[in-house]
Amino acid sequence: MRSDYCGNVSENDLDQTVELCGWCHRRRDHGGVIFIDLRDREGIVQVVFDPDTPETFSIAESVRNEYVLRVKGRVRPRPEGTENPDMATGKIEVLGLELEILNRAETPPFMIDDNDVSEENRLRYRYIDLRRDDMQMRLRMRARITHRLREFLEEHGFLDIETPMLTRATPEGARDYLVPSRTHEGAFFALPQSPQLFKQLLMMSGFDRYYQIVRCFRDEDLRADRQPEFTQLDIEMSFVDEEGVMGLMEGLVRDVFTHVLETPLPDPFPRMSHAEAISRYGSDKPDLRIPLELVDVGDLMQDVEFKVFAGPANDPNGRVAALRLPQGSKLTRKEIDDYTAYVGIYGAKGLAYIKVNEVTKGREGLQSPILKFLPDEVVQAILERSGAQDGDLIFFGADKASIVNEALGALRVKLGHDQGLLEHGWRPLWVVDFPMFEKDEQSPRWQALHHPFTAAIADHNDLLETDPGACLSRAYDMVLNGSEIGGGSIRIHQPEIQQKVFRLLGINEQEAEDKFGFLVTALKYGCPPHGGMAFGLDRMVMLMTGASSIRDVMAFPKTQTASCMLTSAPAPVSDAQLREIGVRLRKPPQGASPHPGEK
Ligand code: AMO
Ligand code: AMP
Repeated sequence: MRSDYCGNVSENDLDQTVELCGWCHRRRDHGGVIFIDLRDREGIVQVVFDPDTPETFSIAESVRNEYVLRVKGRVRPRPEGTENPDMATGKIEVLGLELEILNRAETPPFMIDDNDVSEENRLRYRYIDLRRDDMQMRLRMRARITHRLREFLEEHGFLDIETPMLTRATPEGARDYLVPSRTHEGAFFALPQSPQLFKQLLMMSGFDRYYQIVRCFRDEDLRADRQPEFTQLDIEMSFVDEEGVMGLMEGLVRDVFTHVLETPLPDPFPRMSHAEAISRYGSDKPDLRIPLELVDVGDLMQDVEFKVFAGPANDPNGRVAALRLPQGSKLTRKEIDDYTAYVGIYGAKGLAYIKVNEVTKGREGLQSPILKFLPDEVVQAILERSGAQDGDLIFFGADKASIVNEALGALRVKLGHDQGLLEHGWRPLWVVDFPMFEKDEQSPRWQALHHPFTAAIADHNDLLETDPGACLSRAYDMVLNGSEIGGGSIRIHQPEIQQKVFRLLGINEQEAEDKFGFLVTALKYGCPPHGGMAFGLDRMVMLMTGASSIRDVMAFPKTQTASCMLTSAPAPVSDAQLREIGVRLRKPPQGASPHPGEK
């Protein structure tokens, strides 16, 4: 129906006749001449209709925004002084000779170039929202990224193999989405939280190198970088150690950055232990663009009279840390109060601070509500350890270590953004040497920090029995600008060790047999050493396109409450459908009649 895309018409086409299709982006009536900005996925071109062709002109008069049009016209230079340097096609225009309305459109709920539309409306009318320039750009870049990822992996001998969507639970730490079975009444499938078990089985089958761009489902609390269904680039390799996997995986990420963004990334990526990341940044996904660090001061606070500090300083699970903000003494009382409220979100009970006006004056040069509780030598040691300079401000967190890490870790990121400290560019890193297990405050049970199939580092296998808390795993996370974009590990390939880990996690023999019996059995029939990784594709694309939420790089995302505004999913189903799958609701939806037979 057309000779070219609107956005591709250029000075090379001068005096040529072109046929174009697209949407009316805007129509302007300039006293006798009608301009229509015709838009398609490649861009916008200006089409001019003059009254010399009365029939075409009168059709142009009836055109409204978002009408779908077909135009035949002649390319000509724009008259001098009317060129638009902001438009790729700004030097030319098309003189419209024929115009056909392919379809009319009602007035859209918002203008395509209105940047102030509520997210609710954007998601409800997603097909219109997706017509916007930046949404088109992001989804097209996403396609280029997945294309290049596939090319790289195919070049390196990886096979794309699909794994089931209707399956059993995969333990990745979230709730499962369940699907009732009609043919097995009372039984349920789980949608995969990841293809973890299947990709391990594929290694046992000898495929050696597997990849898949695959949807994963996790029923968890949503945030800007989490969706209930999201896409992983999932990878597994046989006969490798962590160097083999990490080396190839960072090569993959460097390659896609070079091809798509023409940006080189460091080679190799720096590595940091989990312990160091937590100690210096309060986070296992540190944003290295922010030049602020946490410094431990607990040892200085053990004997001070300020109980808020002395308590955690003497508690093995406590932490007292300082965070210096260069030139922060200009912060107002109000700003400090706001930061105090901010760390409160993470459970911090306060946010002590010292303003450093003049370091050389010692105590006299400082300003702080807690100064009176601290002896001179402690004050001096804090200044030295934090590297304080005139004009700085030092924040303090004191509490359980987990609270201090979360609160000061989040404050560090917020200060970095608020105070304009963010360095430019890309700062990838590997976080390694994760503990195998952690305990959360609520339960006395060990939990796997990654997943229960992750191997321990070789000489830590004995610790599985003696001191699980000290046992480090062969897991690695890839972090980019403060976002965890991928994670993986070398897996357990010996059945006895796998069973040992299940026992440690409180999964008894019967439960292990019920849930993962097939895996343990498979491990007995010739399992190669193997390992792999999964990237959060949405997060990677979000970073690469500069979007602020993964919703902006998914065509049809869900809302914060895990629903789809466009299709109104999830939705109630009929009694007949429920009966067919043998499901009765505990609480019938309001207004509905109770199920037959239910009193
Ligand atoms: P993990 O659980 O770390 O590992 O997931 C891998 C990556 O997926 C992304 N991700 C998400 N993205 C969007 N929304 C979510 N709800 C979400 N959850 C996770 C993150 C994360 O780094 N089977 C293992 C991988 C392996 O061991 O090979 C796994 O799934 O970027
Ligand atoms: P208070 O004695 O409660 O008035 O606190 C004195 C200062 O210590 C205030 O600036 C509080 O914000 C701060 N503070 C209180 N609890 C903590 C805490 N757990 N960690 C860091 N600072 C705190």
